[in-house]
Amino acid sequence: MGIQFTGDETAVWAAAARVLDANWTGTATVPSPGLYPHQWSWDSSFVCLGLARHRPERARIELLSLFRGQWETGLVPHIVFSSSVPRHAFFPGPEFWRSRAQQAAPRGVDTSGLAQPPLQALAALRLAQSSGQEEHRAFLAHLYPHLAAQHAYLERERDVAGLGLVGLCHPWESGLENSPAWDHPLAAVDPPASPFGRRSRGGLAEGAESDRHVSLVQSLRDAGYCSEYLRNDHPFVVEDPLFNAVFLASTHALAEVAELVGADPRPHREAAQRIHEAMLEHLWDREACCFRARDVRTGRLIPVATIAGFAPLLDPDLPPAIVRGLAELLLSARFAGATGYPVPTCDVQSAAFDRSGFWRGPTWVNTNYLVWLGALTHHLDAVSDLLLASTLRLVRQSGFREYFDPFDGTGRGSHDFSWSAALILDLLASRRCRRP
Ligand code: GLC
Repeated sequence: MGIQFTGDETAVWAAAARVLDANWTGTATVPSPGLYPHQWSWDSSFVCLGLARHRPERARIELLSLFRGQWETGLVPHIVFSSSVPRHAFFPGPEFWRSRAQQAAPRGVDTSGLAQPPLQALAALRLAQSSGQEEHRAFLAHLYPHLAAQHAYLERERDVAGLGLVGLCHPWESGLENSPAWDHPLAAVDPPASPFGRRSRGGLAEGAESDRHVSLVQSLRDAGYCSEYLRNDHPFVVEDPLFNAVFLASTHALAEVAELVGADPRPHREAAQRIHEAMLEHLWDREACCFRARDVRTGRLIPVATIAGFAPLLDPDLPPAIVRGLAELLLSARFAGATGYPVPTCDVQSAAFDRSGFWRGPTWVNTNYLVWLGALTHHLDAVSDLLLASTLRLVRQSGFREYFDPFDGTGRGSHDFSWSAALILDLLASRRCRRP
């Protein structure tokens, strides 16, 4: 790459590159070797951002591999299953989702039937920007119609409440599935008549909550993953600030991709404006001065403040007063100000905060990265410098773990986690670019 680092940065870079090389299957990167043996959609986009700095040709293959799983509706499923992994290595696997029984699903590959935060257009654009647009023009031209179909699907089929925001029909769609934000909407879902049995995933005990996760998939599957069912009958629908902010940022990126390939960017700019307005109108809590998720079934904002509420910093048109309010909250003793290894994924003063609970408190590299990008967007230098330094400190101390204790930086979850490694590459490379 021709990037000059200090000795320490060189060692971190080499270690991160080794993780990505080890987790490469030949066509994609698994999130972690043992625990997540298939391809996940937002993981792949984070990985693409790192591969763009390390092996750009693999970054292109990674995205193309993901889009093999795209449905005719435009859905980019959150898991594309690998046929070389034993069928029962991951639950729920292909036999549970039964994607091939759906007319709109691809024939050659098994997939899930849910979405995840749609980072792909943003990843494709940054890939082009980091390794020279000429080189990537043909790739972008090939990918553009698929990205446009993905975005059209989210707008057309997933605006469940009709307010201009994507409604998530499953906690897994948020990417932050155990977030305390989903506790109440999930508690309103009837548990299955008989439990799905004891399974282990990521060393977590699986209980009633996870049975509800599986039974939500069962209901969606039995309804043919169709939007009428979602709109009228599905018990869990939430509008999440992180998913919608990523959608907004990717919609802006899609407009730029359109320009690069000679297509019309205006529909994407108009779509971005609609999401921007809807987020401010429906997810911004003026009194508490933060963005919150909304439970579509009750029509109420969900009280707990989580890391997802800072993702709207990705919106370049966010009013300055809101940007200032978010920066203050982020640096306060409820988030970064209370921890040595920020940013915790939940307000540390909330009763739901749990320093070691999956998405209920620990610091994650990918959420730090998204907030870092948002801080760069608004020139919040104190925030972006803090995030960069603390994220580097985490991986130096504990390696490329899945998540980390926000107080002492202890690594948790799986080792050699792909997005933790990939995003460090992009953070390091961006730091070099900013230096004179
Ligand atoms: C966990 C994470 C999710 C991620 C997946 C694969 O389920 O919560 O965000 O996509 O693992 O890494």
